[in-house]
Amino acid sequence: MTVRIAIIGGTGVYDPNILSNVRQKRLETPFGPAWVKIGTYQGREVAFMARHGEDHSVPPHLVNYRANIWGLRQLGVKNVFATAAVGSLNPEMKPKQFVFVDQFLDFTRSRVQTFVEKGVVHLDMTDPYCPELRMTLARAAQELELEYHAKGIYVCTEGPRFETPAEIRMFRQLGGDLVGMTSVPEVVLAREAGICYATIAMVTNFAAGISPTRLSHQEVVDVMAENAGNLRRLVMRAIELLDPDRTCLCHESPLDPSAVK
Ligand code: HPA
Repeated sequence: MTVRIAIIGGTGVYDPNILSNVRQKRLETPFGPAWVKIGTYQGREVAFMARHGEDHSVPPHLVNYRANIWGLRQLGVKNVFATAAVGSLNPEMKPKQFVFVDQFLDFTRSRVQTFVEKGVVHLDMTDPYCPELRMTLARAAQELELEYHAKGIYVCTEGPRFETPAEIRMFRQLGGDLVGMTSVPEVVLAREAGICYATIAMVTNFAAGISPTRLSHQEVVDVMAENAGNLRRLVMRAIELLDPDRTCLCHESPLDPSAVK
């Protein structure tokens, strides 16, 4: 059976414990190896990838995003649900709420954003996050009576440090709602690979200068852990609602595989 659906687990999400018959697989890609666990959920093959490694040893700026997304493409994956811990700049988006991000602002600095190394691809970014997957997530969250926002603008920073309050004020003025360190280039590469991609952002804290306390990675991990059950139920329901063999505009990538490294 082909694997059509993948979950990319971000901070606090390291275990594909919704899957049965799990097997580990090392994927060889032109960009280096990637690791996935593949199992079944409700008769469907689902891949799980821990973005930072299962021991959270890979920081956001050093994740091999190209190997991860190319590896999923090689498996035949067409739909990715990616989880992301985020800080909030928007008073309406509160800790423990889910946001199904629809746009990003890119403040990364050192990350390769394309698979193409021979020739040029200018990729359309009108809908970076798949509208159908986002709708599926909103439907699942509604059914489960979870608190969620159907859209939000994700500011991606280079990290691994947190932001200064001055940076957060700037991001707010630019229209950002959330801040995190991983969505770019992951979403960009998924688009280039012709994969539908949606981010399940979970607010873990108010951002620097808005939060009354200093930020720590532990705080982020603790809030993720408190909400892990809700996240699991949301992903399970979204997978159930999804037709894994549907077609989508996201699948129409201009990528010429022979132009890849
Ligand atoms: N900033 C950047 N990334 C984050 C934050 C934050 O405040 N919280 C969780 N991930």
